[in-house]
Amino acid sequence: MRLARKLIVSMIIGVTLVLAANAYYRVRRELAAFDEDMRRDHEVLARVLGRAVATVWECSGREAALQIVVAAKPASEMVHIRWLDEQSLRLRTRAEDLLYTDVPIAVAGDLKGYIEIRESRTFEETYVRTTLVRTLVLTLLAVLGAGVLSTVVGVYVVGHPTRKLVDKARRIGEGKLEDPPLAIAQRDEIGLLADEMNAMSLRLAETRYALEAETTELLRTQEQLRRADRLATVGKLASGIAHELGTPLGVALVRANMIAANESLGREVRDAARIVSEQIDRITRIVRQLLDFARGHGEPPPGALAKRTPANLVAIAQRSAAMLQPLAAKRNVTIAVVTAPTPPEPPANEDQIQQVLVNLVVNAVHAARGPGKVTITVGIKQVKLPADVTPVVWGGDAEPQYAVISVQDEGVGIAPELLPRIFEPFFTTKDVGEGTGLGLSVAYGIVREHGGWIDVTSEPEKGSSFSVYLPMSVAELV
Ligand SMILES: Nc1ncnc2c1ncn2[C@@H]1O[C@H](COP(=O)(O)OP(=O)(O)OP(=O)(O)O)[C@@H](O)[C@H]1O
Ligand SMILES: [Mg+2]
Repeated sequence: MRLARKLIVSMIIGVTLVLAANAYYRVRRELAAFDEDMRRDHEVLARVLGRAVATVWECSGREAALQIVVAAKPASEMVHIRWLDEQSLRLRTRAEDLLYTDVPIAVAGDLKGYIEIRESRTFEETYVRTTLVRTLVLTLLAVLGAGVLSTVVGVYVVGHPTRKLVDKARRIGEGKLEDPPLAIAQRDEIGLLADEMNAMSLRLAETRYALEAETTELLRTQEQLRRADRLATVGKLASGIAHELGTPLGVALVRANMIAANESLGREVRDAARIVSEQIDRITRIVRQLLDFARGHGEPPPGALAKRTPANLVAIAQRSAAMLQPLAAKRNVTIAVVTAPTPPEPPANEDQIQQVLVNLVVNAVHAARGPGKVTITVGIKQVKLPADVTPVVWGGDAEPQYAVISVQDEGVGIAPELLPRIFEPFFTTKDVGEGTGLGLSVAYGIVREHGGWIDVTSEPEKGSSFSVYLPMSVAELV
């Protein structure tokens, strides 16, 4: 608005100056023309009168001649004529507001005196005054007109659009880049500026969007790598311990079985040995699971994937659902299987994939808070590989095809801070004796061994979804 005000004020000052200068020069010019006119009239009058006086002076003497001067009646009341001899001319004081013309009168070459014609200039003052008043009124009118015009033009052409530009610049500064573009219809510099601002805002928004996407991807990749690293460390540790435990456990099992089978020993001792044997069995199972998990952290052995036969994922899903039906029914949970029109058959070990699926479905059923539903979906997808997965797919396609089995529940969900830990061995939120915390780590190991990965999305109190990705085709030499 200040810009518009400046424009208006300067326009008004400009108009005023032009009108004032015009009035000043016009008045001066007209006054000069008036004086010139008067002088010319006086000269004509003086010449006629002078000639008459000189002639009469010559014929009839001084008195008769001066009589003519006294009798001369000029057309205007403002004009006065009198006779002056040389001395009275010298002594005469001139009044400011009178114009004097003195005509010398000579008779036979002898200077007799002067005819003085004087005329009042008061009408010039009147003229100047009226011109001033007229100019003042005209200036006021012009200023008023210019003011109104420039206010309208200034406000609508400069003030409003400038304020819009300022608002837009402020919004861009605040990062509000998705706001609607500036709508300024003017096709002048302000319109161009608005267009440029809109384009700039759009480009900034695009850049920001790309940057945000990149940052999110970077953070996700970092998190994946961190998790893979942690799991690899835990995997190595688990494999070491499991390996070391294997032999002593085997020895202990053989000995316990021997004691249990020895008829010569008392019944109580043989029962105790059987319990020891059962517990060793349990420990051995856990150790085997630990090894399964640990295996998934190395690269799959060369050719291992290529040698696998196509696995019927739909059949695996249906088998697992049927197997877990009784467990689900006890908790009022139904298990549904949804399949794609063409079920994928990736190269995989069917028993291992079934183990993965069973572990996921058991978790889903356990997560239910009341009656609910667990959905197993089998399909095929083109996806981008996560950062921590080594590609095992032919041709290095950027988005290769993967078979996907998803297990979705409506259960308690997983708190975001626990999400990075659920694949760690022995991580469980279940009570002692209810869960060992190996289910997911085993599933993870198996899936990684197949060249795939597991994706988790979960919302506390809404439910979770675990998706197992398995490559559809694999390179022969990995
Ligand atoms: N579908 C799910 N909904 C909610 N939490 C889950 C789900 N799946 C896994 N979790 C969480 O992840 C933890 C680890 O799961 P994992 O299967 O590895 O072990 P577990 O189920 O506790 O024990 P188990 O060895 O018997 O499977 C669980 O204790 C639970 O907190
Ligand atoms: Mg489990």
